[in-house]
Formats: sequence, C-alpha cells, structure tokens
Amino acid sequence: MAEAELDMTVFQKLDYVNGILLPILSCENWEKIWNFQARPDDILISTYPKAGTSWMQEIVDMIQNDGDTKKCQRAPSYDRVPFIDLFVPLPLKSGLDKAEEMASPRILKTHFPFQLLPPSFWEQNCKIIYFARNAKDNMVSYFHFQRMNQGLPDPGTWSEYFEVFLTGEVPWGPWHDHVKGWWEARERQRILYIFFENMKENPAREIRKIMQFLEKDLGDEVLEKIVHHTSFLAMKENPMANYITIPSFIFDQSVSPFMRKGTVGDWKTHFTVAQNERFDEDYKEKMAETSLTFRTEL
Ligand code: A3P
Repeated sequence: MAEAELDMTVFQKLDYVNGILLPILSCENWEKIWNFQARPDDILISTYPKAGTSWMQEIVDMIQNDGDTKKCQRAPSYDRVPFIDLFVPLPLKSGLDKAEEMASPRILKTHFPFQLLPPSFWEQNCKIIYFARNAKDNMVSYFHFQRMNQGLPDPGTWSEYFEVFLTGEVPWGPWHDHVKGWWEARERQRILYIFFENMKENPAREIRKIMQFLEKDLGDEVLEKIVHHTSFLAMKENPMANYITIPSFIFDQSVSPFMRKGTVGDWKTHFTVAQNERFDEDYKEKMAETSLTFRTEL
C-alpha cells in the first residue's frame, strides 16, 4: 500500500459512540461492530490502548499453539489476532472482516470499554483476558504512540497531553472507567484480569494463570519457551510482533518505536512534581469507590 493511496486524515478524525471517543470509521460502522457474532470458543483480549495488548497477544498465541514459535511467526500480530474495533478504508481489510473469515478457535482483540463490547461475547460466554497497566505508565506510552501513529490525532506537547488524558477525551475514552468497568464485570463474567506490573515481575507465574484459564497444561519446558519468546527483547527483534511491517507513513518508528521501553515506572522520566501531585489527587477521586489497585513501580 503506497502513501498516496491512503488518506491518513480520515483515520485521525474521531467521534463519539455513547459518550466514548472513537475513530470516526468505527463510529460510522457501529451497527456492524455491535452486531458482530462471537463464537463460544473465541478468546478475547481486552485492554485499554497501550496497556501491553501486543504482549498478551503473543502470549496467548503461543499458549494456543503449544509453544510453537514457528507457528507464531506465521503472520504479523494484527493478522493473527484481529482487532475488532478498528475500521480501515478499502483496499485494506478491517479487523472485523479478518475475524469473520478466520477459522476457529480465534483470538480477538478489543479496546472497547466494557459497555461497548458487542453483546454476543456475553451471550456466547467467551473467555476474556483483560490486561491492565497502571495509569501513569499507560498514559506515557499512549502519548508516544499518538506521536508515532499517523492514524491517531497528534497529542501535542507532553503537558498538553497530560491535561487531555485526565479529562478522558482520548480515543477509547477515560482510563479510569475502562479499568474499573472491566474489574467489576469480572465478578459476573468469564474474565481473567491480569496486571502488566505482575507480568513484568514474574512472567512465568502470570503465564501459568493464563494457561490454567485456557485449560492448557503445557509443562515447564514450554512455559519457559513462552516466557523467552514473549520477552520485551525477543519481541522487539521479532518482525511478526514489533509492527515493523506497518508502513512508516502510518507507524513512524523513527519518532518512537512500537516496542519502546516496556518497563514499569517510566512515568518518572515524564511527570513533573506538580503533575504528579495533580494526577494523584484526581486519581484518588476517580478510583475512590473501587477495590482495584495498581503498582506504579516494582
Ligand atoms: P511502552 O511504550 O511503555 O514501551 P500495546 O501493545 O497495548 O500497544 O502496548 C504497547 C506497550 O507495551 C509499549 O509500552 C510496549 O513497549 C509494551 N510491550 C509490548 N511487548 C512487551 C513485552 N514483551 N514486555 C514488556 N512490555 C511490552
């Protein structure tokens, strides 16, 4: 696909669905998204953008393929795990179309807040893995992603973005409502809630939880292989996981690489003392009623 064939300004436009800011093409195709037919053996990976979705995609694909690294290099992650939220102009293929053509069992990806998930996922009682990351690192990662991704609006300066993020007027809506909504939903639905910080601390322990949830008993040797293949460094070098296959006029990795740092606590290199105080005050208010807690350092 050549640059001239694709109008990137279409991607950058946003609109609302039920008060949540989304790419305009998703809004225009909302009926199709809402009526998407999930299958009972679908595995859905749900995240707020930049919470480590691609990491979880690689882990789940490795588990489903019994730790076969070759099979997991069959295609880029966005083709192995269709992103059902995003619509792209023809001749590109949207995630929903890729999903519909895919044989079962499928691994699918969404960034929708709980209330926007197509209802067939609940009707089919699909297994859902929610991967959550602390707000500060999540915000920093999103800022850099909006800088490099020409398919999203320009984030402006860090201090401008900081304010916008706190208002929740970013694509896929406010972080706080997203993590809380899915946290509460896990009491009623088949949702495994996993934290980025725990995964970073002890990937083998967390991957074991996922294996159990997916009813896959693969043994310690395969587990070790999965830990290695899905480490930050291995994924950074893996063209099927590092998004290098997306043309640079869409993902400009010279501005900021997709596999940027992958750490816990990078927010400390971005937040000023004043921003941190303001953030914490706002956070306390928005997260007052929930039992959900995050670590911002290890
Ligand atoms: P940073 O920008 O902080 O580096 P998503 O996949 O949801 O877009 O999230 C991308 C973020 O997850 C990036 O964070 C990226 O570096 C991080 N990430 C991806 N794979 C990772 C891995 N194997 N280990 C640690 N972090 C990873």
